[in-house]
Amino acid sequence: MKRIGVIGGLGVIGPWLIRRLLAEGTEVFTIDVRDDVSLLPDVADRFTRCTADVRDVDALTAVLADRGPINALANLAVADAGASDPYLSFSVNGHGSVTVLEAARRTGVPRVIYASSKAAYGRILAPYGHPEFEPLPEDHPLSVHPDLPVYSASKRYGEDAGVLYAERFGLEFAAMRFATIVGPGKQARHGPTSIQSRMIENAVAGVGTVGEAGGDQRDDMVYVKDVAAGLASALLTKQLGHQAYNLGSGRLSTLRDLAAAIRENIADVEIDIGPGLNYLVGLRDAYALMDMSRAQSDLGYEPAYDLPAAVSDYAKELIALGVAVAANEAQSAWGS
Ligand SMILES: NC(=O)c1ccc[n+]([C@@H]2O[C@H](COP(=O)([O-])OP(=O)(O)OC[C@H]3O[C@@H](n4cnc5c(N)ncnc54)[C@H](O)[C@@H]3O)[C@@H](O)[C@H]2O)c1
Repeated sequence: MKRIGVIGGLGVIGPWLIRRLLAEGTEVFTIDVRDDVSLLPDVADRFTRCTADVRDVDALTAVLADRGPINALANLAVADAGASDPYLSFSVNGHGSVTVLEAARRTGVPRVIYASSKAAYGRILAPYGHPEFEPLPEDHPLSVHPDLPVYSASKRYGEDAGVLYAERFGLEFAAMRFATIVGPGKQARHGPTSIQSRMIENAVAGVGTVGEAGGDQRDDMVYVKDVAAGLASALLTKQLGHQAYNLGSGRLSTLRDLAAAIRENIADVEIDIGPGLNYLVGLRDAYALMDMSRAQSDLGYEPAYDLPAAVSDYAKELIALGVAVAANEAQSAWGS
């Protein structure tokens, strides 16, 4: 049986990855700074939870050594404080990646999968951004996004460290660059920055949503269970063919498309999104259609959820989890 560690596994993405790994017959443990299983109560007794800070290489090494032979690690840990606390963001998101790589090297873990982001591409301009939206390939140059400098630079740092450790020490490394993820728990954990979660969760609570602008913005919105499937493949596949993979949905949608899917699958509430681009106010040129051909051929990645299926599964899972749903009127501006 393969043994997989999920670092930062108790957040939004981790629980879906853990369920997927358990379903694949894998032994799972998590390393996190908190012990909150509210997004995975159904499987909480089926994996081991360890506490360590991703910035503490000795603590991380001790936990890995204690767990015994490990086949692969997923590093999902993030402190999304952005510009309000660059030291924290850089040390967890960027240097935390080096710490995980170093602890893996010291304990002989052969593979590390790093949760990166499309933010590592920096500003996504035409032909890959609006209005052409040609599929954005992994070999597009990486750069710092001026509206999201700390987050994008720290993801780039984490990726560069992984490539260096792979070259120098021979461990397998891949950065997974996600499109815009939609998934239950995001609003509860991250607040109103995810307008998609606000729209869906408001509808579950029986109320509508008003968004000032951005109704014409097309974007690649991927369901969290598809992301989890892609991550699980990267952890479990026999051999990685590349060091970076995009994970997306394979299609472009607008918030108005999302509103239609919500009205059809959850509740016929009023959702009024104003016109224009950039639904995340203050974050320009961050929207793209991810080219997934590499993940498809190397990892067998195939998103299973279209927008209506994602919306209806989101509502079903939210209710099953018993996550408190409260109508949220806050704007989805990007705070950093
Ligand atoms: N959710 C998205 O839309 C999205 C999109 C692109 C990329 N990502 C990336 O995917 C990864 C996971 O995202 P998420 O939404 O699950 O994040 P999350 O914030 O919900 O979860 C992150 C987890 O990391 C843990 N953590 C924070 N600081 C830590 C530390 N010092 N040591 C150990 N653990 C620590 C937190 O307790 C939390 O459980 C992140 O790296 C994020 O940047 C997410």
